[in-house]
Amino acid sequence: MRILLLGSGGREHAFAWKIAQSSMLDELFIAPGNAGTRNHGKNLSFSPSDFNAVRKNVIELNIDMVVVGPEEPLVLGIYDYFLRDPELCKIPVIGPSKLGAQLEGSKDFAKQFMHRHNIPTAKYATFTQDSLEDGLKFLANMKGPYVLKADGLAAGKGVLIIQDLEEAQAELTSMLSHAKFGEASQKVIIEQFLTGIELSVFVITDGDSFKLLPEAKDYKRIGEGDTGLNTGGMGAISPVPFADAAFMDKVHNRIIVPTVKGLKQEVIPYKGFIFFGLINVKGDPYVIEYNCRMGDPETEVVIPRLKSDILDLFEGVATNTLSERDIEFYDKSAATVMMVSGGYPENYEKGKPIYGLNAVIESMVFHAGTASDGPSVLTAGGRVLSVTSYGRNLDAALEKTYDSISKISFEGAYFRKDLGFDVL
Ligand code: AMP
Ligand code: GLY
Repeated sequence: MRILLLGSGGREHAFAWKIAQSSMLDELFIAPGNAGTRNHGKNLSFSPSDFNAVRKNVIELNIDMVVVGPEEPLVLGIYDYFLRDPELCKIPVIGPSKLGAQLEGSKDFAKQFMHRHNIPTAKYATFTQDSLEDGLKFLANMKGPYVLKADGLAAGKGVLIIQDLEEAQAELTSMLSHAKFGEASQKVIIEQFLTGIELSVFVITDGDSFKLLPEAKDYKRIGEGDTGLNTGGMGAISPVPFADAAFMDKVHNRIIVPTVKGLKQEVIPYKGFIFFGLINVKGDPYVIEYNCRMGDPETEVVIPRLKSDILDLFEGVATNTLSERDIEFYDKSAATVMMVSGGYPENYEKGKPIYGLNAVIESMVFHAGTASDGPSVLTAGGRVLSVTSYGRNLDAALEKTYDSISKISFEGAYFRKDLGFDVL
């Protein structure tokens, strides 16, 4: 198969690494990719959301299948774009339809979907500029902390958790009346605050059946002990110790099955990954959010734990035969720690040379934000490298990762040293 993989982060490097191991692969292209993905295929320099460029390259390069990493092209409707085009309509896209991607692209859509299918989630109400006054009253009548969510995509920044009522009211006003998150906050969801520990659960589905992937837990805050600003993710572990069989049974029965069935019942085409952002409230799982793609950095631990050929699974998705495919996992644990640029998630510099990559033998180094300059590798983003290791348990995997990180350096490099602190 000739595969085009869209995206440029650690998630896509992990996908590229895995796809490159497939016996079904003829050639892999990554757009735009990074300095790591070029080791597994050919990088192409166009944006995944530039559908004209995608189209041109798919036709010229005789691509057999397109695998979509990030949410943006999915929410923009790349799946439907392919179906509508006579030259592209036979080429499968791994990812949901535009409507299916609304599970991530609109929090209001996701909430209504969960409501229709009785899927456990925080209680909520939705407000627009016209109902701002009602929203302010709604806040005044509830107890904090106040959870405010911009309805649309806001680059991971659209969720505010606020202790103080007046501050929450000011933020609601700023979101609805002053477009704090642009179009994304034309609608705002106000949600009940849930207390518990979070985890990420993933399935791949062909729209009929699904396969469960290993669960993971990511560490979102910049500071140790989960303090400071939110980031795209500072590391992840898999498996998650508290996700035992009893808990995962509840996730399966109350959340995954009703979601997949609900999509089918509502005739929402969905052939790709579903990411369930869950919270464990006293032993019961609730959905915090859906994403229409794999997680990052979760992919950097989930995909290494997948033993099966990933293209066999993708082919099962494309041909509606996923239920006939075997899926196997490695029993070992995996941990990844993100090395980030100094200053991230606020201002940071790019273009710093990265040293020591070749000295790492015992870990996989997935590039998140890197660029190549001839043979050298430079930092090109906030999150730079995701260093993943296997271990017989999480402690062993983390130890190996921290040992590998000690061999890598770039100016201003920062990483969290406490991964797993809350579950180990
Ligand atoms: P999201 O962008 O939806 O993943 O939300 C970002 C983060 O906000 C989540 O990972 C949670 O830590 C937190 N969060 C979102 N919704 C709630 C909620 N209802 N109760 C408590 N925390 C929440
Ligand atoms: N790690 C969370 C996400 O990918 O959204």
